[in-house]
Order: sequence, then structure tokens, then C-alpha cells
Amino acid sequence: MDAADRLIVALDFPTAHEALQLVERLNGQVRWVKVGLELYLAEGRSIVDRLVARGLHVFLDLKLHDIPNTVAAAVRVAGASGAELLTVHASGGPAMLLAAVDAAPASLRLLAVTVLTSMGEADLQTVGVRSSAEEQVGRLAALAAESNVRGLVCSPAELTSVRSTVGEDFWLVTPGIRSAGSPIDDQRRTATAYDAIRRGANMLVAGRPITRANDPAAAADQVLRQIDSALQH
Ligand code: C5P
Repeated sequence: MDAADRLIVALDFPTAHEALQLVERLNGQVRWVKVGLELYLAEGRSIVDRLVARGLHVFLDLKLHDIPNTVAAAVRVAGASGAELLTVHASGGPAMLLAAVDAAPASLRLLAVTVLTSMGEADLQTVGVRSSAEEQVGRLAALAAESNVRGLVCSPAELTSVRSTVGEDFWLVTPGIRSAGSPIDDQRRTATAYDAIRRGANMLVAGRPITRANDPAAAADQVLRQIDSALQH
């Protein structure tokens, strides 16, 4: 895997037009893109088809969480769309995770979401979770691994502890990537691409630092260089 296999650009746009325009501006620099709820709900399956038709690998970030039968059916449809990564909430429990894994074709890797990074400890208490956020992340990461999910999304701050819970062939996909000195937007815990890869992230998700840059291709190139230099060490 080289640097371009490890960077996912989050296409957080409300329309296919804007998402595809950004893809054009990236000038072939990027191999992976992420489609989240906003773009998916606006455009449906056709946006995945159009991105796949442009030769891109698609991460569908739909964070599925429902009864096992419903999640399994959704996973089957997502797999048929050509998406290669799909998120499911680990808090859906073992039966849901096992059903999702069972329904996923070999071309689709499921990624577990543990505790949303927007949830602080007080928020966890309000939904009945008495453990610390770190303990809860560890518990859900272990559950995902035991259920044969092969990756998860985690913040840069969680990389080291999560890696000690899951195996080396588990993919850790990390958002919250920012260059030193650049705006952190609404992200609370950020890291540079270099540091996140050094701490064991397999893939990075970057949105606004690339999509809102004056020159998105140059911004992507800068992140790719950092990844490359972390991989050389
Ligand atoms: O623009 P930015 O680089 O902050 O985008 C990060 C992307 O990763 C967004 O699509 C966001 O929804 C997603 N994400 C995140 N933190 C998580 C999980 C997903 O920022 N814990």
C-alpha cells in the first residue's frame, strides 16, 4: 500500500455536482473518497455509481445501527453498490455485527464505530454508560474484533490503546487530520497525517483541509507527502 491507498477524502457536500466538481479538482491525486449521510441521502446509490465509474474507491459512512436483519439487508445492498468500506455502530451488539459481517461480500470491509467523538463522559452517563469513554471504546473495539469486523474508525488519540486491543491486520481508519497550525474546525482531538500514521493508523480521513483549500490537489499532495514520509520511517 502506498500513500495514496491510505488517504480518504471526505466528500461532505449536499449535492453530487459539488462532490464531483471537487473530484475533478483533485486531478487524480486521490484514490479513496468517503460518502456520508448528507450526500448519500441527497443523491442515493447513483453517487456511489458515479464515483466508482471514475475509478475511485468508495467508503460509505452510513453508521448503520438497527436490528440484525435490517442491517444485514442494508449491508448486502451497500456491497452490491461497489462501496468497499461501510461503517456500522459497534453498540448495535454482537448479533447485529455478526449479521452484518455475514451479509458483507468479500469486496466490502466493515468498519465499526465505537463511541462518537462528539460524546464526552457526561454525555455517556446520560445514555447509561458508566465507564469512561476510553473503557467504552476498548470494550466496543474488542466486541467488533470478536464479531469478525475487520476495522474501525478511531480518533488519533485512541490509536495506541485501540491497537493494543485489536490485531495488526485490523484497519484503523482515523479522521481529525490537520496540518500543524491549520484550523481544527469542530474537531476536538486532531493529529497531523504524519503522526497518525506513525501511531498506527492504516488509513486517514481528511475533509475540510482538502475540500475547502484554495487548491485541493495541492492540499491533498501535502497530506500524501506526510503519509509517505511517515511510511519511510
Ligand atoms: O472536515 P474533516 O476533516 O473534519 O472531516 C472528517 C470527516 O470524518 C467527516 O466526514 C466526519 O463526519 C468524519 N468523522 C469524524 N470523526 C469521527 C467519525 C467520522 O470527523 N469520529
